[in-house]
Amino acid sequence: MIFEQIAVGGCQSYLLGCAERRAAVVIDPQAHAIDRYASLLLREGLRLRYVIDTHTHADHFSGAHELAGRMGARVAAHRLSATPHADLRLEDGDQLMVGDTRLRVLHTPGHTLDSVCLLASDRVFTGDTLLIGSTGRTDLPTGDPGALHDSLFGVLLKLDPALKVYPAHAYDGRSASTIGEEIASNPRLKHRDRAAFVDMMGRLNLSSPVHCTEALRVNTGGGKTIDQLVLDAAAIIAFVASDALAARLEADEPGLTLLDVRERDAFLAGHIPGARHLPRGELELRVNDELTDPTARIVTCCEQGPAATLAAATLRTLGFQRVAALDGGMKDWRGRGLPIELGAESFPTTVSR
Ligand SMILES: [Fe+2]
Repeated sequence: MIFEQIAVGGCQSYLLGCAERRAAVVIDPQAHAIDRYASLLLREGLRLRYVIDTHTHADHFSGAHELAGRMGARVAAHRLSATPHADLRLEDGDQLMVGDTRLRVLHTPGHTLDSVCLLASDRVFTGDTLLIGSTGRTDLPTGDPGALHDSLFGVLLKLDPALKVYPAHAYDGRSASTIGEEIASNPRLKHRDRAAFVDMMGRLNLSSPVHCTEALRVNTGGGKTIDQLVLDAAAIIAFVASDALAARLEADEPGLTLLDVRERDAFLAGHIPGARHLPRGELELRVNDELTDPTARIVTCCEQGPAATLAAATLRTLGFQRVAALDGGMKDWRGRGLPIELGAESFPTTVSR
């Protein structure tokens, strides 16, 4: 058996491979680490068969769809998972064959309704059902403390105590445990009575994970992260540095249009001299009236960069071929002590000179 545990922050992903048949499965991949999984598979000479999310993650972006697409594998998830990308919808008791290795699916709802644990010969991948010295939380969408109690005490903790436990999160430097160790020392498992367990889970008062709503939107709807949207936009435009733009404005470059896409209050409070104001939200609807020359050099600017990047990419999509965004936005411009103009546009119709 080939085995790799890949930690990204506190999140744990796993690669399990069959040395004989060179087949592999990746469990709980993160979108940010796709290249790491791909390079591990190449290094080991493994063909990726399946990518499995143990549940709908609320704290990070699943890389299952992208990794499977890149490596020609199938995405597997429990049938109750909301992901639109599952090729296989798993049921309790199903087995996946990864070469000579078998992975048995245990439906263990509680942390989420679609949570599964994956049982191999000597180890179990517990997702967020059972963590080292803890359990998954039950206060996020589809969480159910009573169901988690039943999954733990009725299923998982009845397995062989010698089984190694590999969870989806590991903190405090420990990367694995065993069923027996958890029964003996996990403080949450001391609450064997169902009502006491539910009461204990209800009192945890945990803060919401960072990016929770975005992660749920992306992982259940198949959408993109905001970072990905901005990265995609940045890939189809150019950027101009503040100093270079200042020099071109100073030189009265003919045909240069500088477009400030911030909201009106921000524009009035200080903009680059000669900038035109066209808020990002009105860009598509006003573009035919405001930007009449599709061959013009247009530089968009916003406060820090992302909105101008998206605006420039929109203009590029609309057919403006010479668009660029101000790198670092007004924050960088101000930081360099470059000139600022207050109030409304000094060139209400055009800055082409
Ligand atoms: Fe989770």
